[in-house]
Amino acid sequence: MAALAAGSTTSATESLSGQPLPFRPSELKQYGFKTEQIPKLPVDHPKVEELIAAEEPVVITGTHLVDSALKWELNYLRDNMGQAPFNVYVAKSPKFMYFDEKKARLCKDFRPPSRRVEMGMAEFMDRLQNMSADSERLYLQQTLSEGVGEQIVSDFIGFNWAWVMDQQKKNGWGPLTSNLLLIGMEGNITPSHYDEQQNFFAQVKGYKRCILHHPSQFGCLYPYPVSHPCDRQSQVDFDNPDYERFPGFREAYGKEAIVGPGDVLYIPMYWWHQIESVPKGGITTSVNFWFKSGPTPREITYPLKAQQKVAIMRNIEKMLGEALGDPKEVGVLLQTMVSGRYNDPKHLLTSS
Ligand code: OGA
Ligand code: ZN
Repeated sequence: MAALAAGSTTSATESLSGQPLPFRPSELKQYGFKTEQIPKLPVDHPKVEELIAAEEPVVITGTHLVDSALKWELNYLRDNMGQAPFNVYVAKSPKFMYFDEKKARLCKDFRPPSRRVEMGMAEFMDRLQNMSADSERLYLQQTLSEGVGEQIVSDFIGFNWAWVMDQQKKNGWGPLTSNLLLIGMEGNITPSHYDEQQNFFAQVKGYKRCILHHPSQFGCLYPYPVSHPCDRQSQVDFDNPDYERFPGFREAYGKEAIVGPGDVLYIPMYWWHQIESVPKGGITTSVNFWFKSGPTPREITYPLKAQQKVAIMRNIEKMLGEALGDPKEVGVLLQTMVSGRYNDPKHLLTSS
């Protein structure tokens, strides 16, 4: 597959560690946009720090970030996760699009793409191990917090906190907000979306294909309105793009990487990401590290970055929804404001 091979320095059937991959990259789905490879670099490579500081994605090897979790086989998790109920998403489709449950309750016409079920780890494992072709798919997505067993707490304490907190400090990020544990079936897909947090995404078991798009591609990916339950998610179906509704998607170009056990992908805040548990790659386990962004600098410098413009757009959408008292009126007002008016910017005043 040309897109995957471009810029790749590893052979098509081997991971960097030299282990054969359990699937052929040429079997991966092809999408209608080009991608280049995200660089994959050892933790002590000077470019790693440069890329993180520049908010560019990078796959980092040798961080030892979640080494203590590399032994998290399903039976180990079953025995040690504890009794607490876990959030498991259940869906017929392999696409597990995130939605905000609070917004979904306010939106009576919204059909949730999956349903959240709380289940114990033993039940989850039983269902995973007894899947048949027509069973619904499962995706466990649970914040690691109190309620997990002692052994898992000890593995969690054993994460390489020194490295990850050093990164937080160096890059001026805010506090760690959460660690999400994700256990998914091969073929599961988290469709393209962006998060408002910095993310070190650590792969523990199995292989995930991560397809990223720069925040400047907001106009190519058509996120749902902020008030919609699927806020921050792209409306474009990568498998079957509706180019009439979403013509800008033709201009999309991405970056991608396959992450395997021990790899850490830095997903910068506001970068779009679609994450696919590769087909025939087995069950996947990942743990992410989400950090708040740092404080906004006192002095704003121009031109603004795409990330700052996304933040401005979000705020305007929210403010208009509140001011108008009904989010349904936002689109009409915005159309009235721009249509036939801002097409010719040459006579507009500049502030300098
Ligand atoms: C994330 C994310 C989804 C997945 O960590 O931000 O979107 O399927 N993960 O791993
Ligand atoms: Zn995400």
